[in-house]
Amino acid sequence: LTNKDGSLLTSISPNLSGDIKSGNESFITPPASSIDLKSNLLCRRDFFIRLDKKIIRLSDNHSDLLEAGFLYHKIIKKFQGLQVEMINFIPYDLDIDIMWVRIINRSRKTKKLTPTSFMPLYGRSAENIRDHRHVSSLLNRIELHSYGLLLKPTMVFDENGHFLNDKTYFSFSFQDRFRPPLGQFPSLEYYIGKGDLLKPDALLKEVKPLTRAFDFLQGKETLASFRFKTEMLKPGEKKDYIIFTGMFSSSRNSQAKTLKFLKSLNSPEKVGLKLEKTKEYWQNYLKAIEFDFKDPDLNNWLLWVKFQPLLRKLFGCSFLPHFDYGKGGRGWRDLWQDALSLLITEPKKAKDLIIQSFKGVRIDGSNATIITSNGGFLSDRNKINRIWCDHGVWPYISLRLYLNRTGDTSLLLKEIHYFQDHLKSRAKVKDPGFLSQDFVMRTKNKSIYKGSILEHVLLELLTPFFNVGKHNIIKLENADWNDGLDMAAKNGESVAFSFLYADHLRDICFFLEQLKKKNKKIPLLQEIAILFDSLEKPIDYNNYKEKIKVLDRYYKATASLSGRKKYFYIDNLIYDLRKKSSHMFLWLRKKEWLNEGFFNGYYDNISRRVEGRNQQGMRMMLSSQVFSIMSAVATDKQVKKIWASITKYLQDKELGGFRLNTDFGSTYLNLGRAFGFSYGDKENGAFFNHMNVMLSFALLSQEFVAEGHKVFESIYNMSVSKKAKIYPLIPEYFNSQGQGLYLYLTGSASWYIYTLVEQILGLKFNLGNIVLAPKLQSENFRKNSIEFKFRFCQKNLHISYFKLGKNKGPLRVEKVFFNDKPLISFGKDFMIAGKDIKNYPGSKIHIKAYLR
Ligand code: G1P
Repeated sequence: LTNKDGSLLTSISPNLSGDIKSGNESFITPPASSIDLKSNLLCRRDFFIRLDKKIIRLSDNHSDLLEAGFLYHKIIKKFQGLQVEMINFIPYDLDIDIMWVRIINRSRKTKKLTPTSFMPLYGRSAENIRDHRHVSSLLNRIELHSYGLLLKPTMVFDENGHFLNDKTYFSFSFQDRFRPPLGQFPSLEYYIGKGDLLKPDALLKEVKPLTRAFDFLQGKETLASFRFKTEMLKPGEKKDYIIFTGMFSSSRNSQAKTLKFLKSLNSPEKVGLKLEKTKEYWQNYLKAIEFDFKDPDLNNWLLWVKFQPLLRKLFGCSFLPHFDYGKGGRGWRDLWQDALSLLITEPKKAKDLIIQSFKGVRIDGSNATIITSNGGFLSDRNKINRIWCDHGVWPYISLRLYLNRTGDTSLLLKEIHYFQDHLKSRAKVKDPGFLSQDFVMRTKNKSIYKGSILEHVLLELLTPFFNVGKHNIIKLENADWNDGLDMAAKNGESVAFSFLYADHLRDICFFLEQLKKKNKKIPLLQEIAILFDSLEKPIDYNNYKEKIKVLDRYYKATASLSGRKKYFYIDNLIYDLRKKSSHMFLWLRKKEWLNEGFFNGYYDNISRRVEGRNQQGMRMMLSSQVFSIMSAVATDKQVKKIWASITKYLQDKELGGFRLNTDFGSTYLNLGRAFGFSYGDKENGAFFNHMNVMLSFALLSQEFVAEGHKVFESIYNMSVSKKAKIYPLIPEYFNSQGQGLYLYLTGSASWYIYTLVEQILGLKFNLGNIVLAPKLQSENFRKNSIEFKFRFCQKNLHISYFKLGKNKGPLRVEKVFFNDKPLISFGKDFMIAGKDIKNYPGSKIHIKAYLR
């Protein structure tokens, strides 16, 4: 749960476990990792009812019915004639967590009940969970009020330098028409007494709740636990209990301002209205693109998948029970994946995000690692000097979608600065004397250097081209997409990503051709000429040593930057890029194809080939295959063989999904940590959804339609299977039991929507126009049509695909109508011109396409 700007982030599970925080330094309740969900009572928002002599814990399962919506969590419980509804939500426009408990007497007898709520207030940094947890509790100052309590620690405990704390954590509560609780148990010590959390004195003995008269407490682990009045609940009667929890700080907002909400939400009716407004807000957000496959389950599931990228943006890659690491930042790759879905759902925002993100590129073609939640760049979370060799490919994929969607190729010429930190020459050189407040690259003369976005992309594609290992393959550096391949920095090579670089070096020429229509020449950083070797001093690309020399020359030349620009003929750039790309295509096809019927994707730290048959059995990795297909390095004949190998070695016959790799049998210290994980988890042979979506994308893009759908459907089937044990969403991966792990904050959702739109529904944006090229088969139609709606050029576009006949195999578009006016095809493609959409006088356009 969260609000629209992500200023309060919470997690909640069906047993009311989880946590509430506004950032890594300000966990309002104790941080919960996945193991805590079922084992740590301190990580629950609980509620107890004393019913006659029995105490009922509401977080236990009482024939629960769970309803999860945008963005609220509701559980209905039934026991002993009572119905209890527990709703948790954060209003879309406020940073308070609301828990609303409604107790209804559904029996024919009057019930006597005494409610007590329970929620530990932690009020400090996640780090303190194992770093001076007790000592940091001594900083606590608790102030009691008639409606609740405030926790204001005196200081922030941090041995790097303690400082004054300015954050106040609070929890307030009332029942019905703003009636305050009777009193409270404000510390764990007082609540537990001589018992323990399972049998606390506060619930089992006659311990008196404290009232405001006892107004101050210090140095204790804090608890928001409110005792409400004993009620005689008549048949049909109901009682409401509402608890607000949150935080404010003098730097963010004042106490008075924050607590104002109390007045505006001082009755169950007002809270109910806020809940309705919150639902409305998020439902509206989801309208940016709508899919209707005539299957309520699938449609509903897709809503959540569409929503995932937003949660990832707001939560970063931290702050859910499985994501028990990081401080809320996102990685480079994640950022660009998020841009993909943003381009589909919020294209206007995507432009700014793209421009802002390119400012993270270094002059050596690498980039900053961590993106803060406000879009700034940091060098590395743990100050580790790392470079991932795949980073250069993701920006281009998102940029390409932007250029195709808008036709705005002028963005390529926009000049922006570069990122700079202590790392140089792709982290080979560390500059200990580096001092900068703003991490902005400067020239010799200390002025800020700006280069075009095109120049940024070119550097990201060109430096890896030269950065090769002994097999003339792009170096793996500290890992690639697979973060778990992180132990082969010296000699490792990534064939998998060489495929994509080869593709992009060629693909970008399409946009250069567009630029050429306006100017024959463009200005670029003078030193980049070194990387366009074929224009001055062509080297032999078959000789890896020559490539490395060129890169070294470039590093030297840019060690302190002249800042001068040079004009290049676009035709010359195209010539050079195509030459590089064709060299790679031929090299990869010839040298990395294995007789076993698939591609080798890696060399390890002692320069050994990783994949293929060895004494222990067959070693095969999915990424290597995915990118060989996506890049079109693999020929059709090869793709057929690869697919046969994938189904043979990587598909799980029972679960239907595809694994990331075969079982390598043991640790692999010359490649990476991944192989130390249990086989079937995370990056070691799990059903890793991001890679599987990309496999589907790759197959569909090369017209292997049936195969692409098989993979695409395996993800949905595994997600909605009972074995997955998850809310509706795409998890990062499924383990060998088919259980989904790492929920919501995963890049796979962005790629899933991207694949759905660009491949399956075949909405191919082309320089501001739309080409309809669906990859659909008869069996993909649940009913006779598939509908989707989205905004384009300020118009509401509604596209309907109708199926004619029952043909086997991929369906072809037969005819298309633009608001009932037939469209003429170009070859087999139907194109809807951007200008026709723009110039259309109405605001709604209905495109009907008939497929046979
Ligand atoms: C996660 C990381 C991503 C990385 C992947 C594989 O994927 O966020 O950067 O490439 O693991 O190591 P995600 O959970 O986002 O799908």
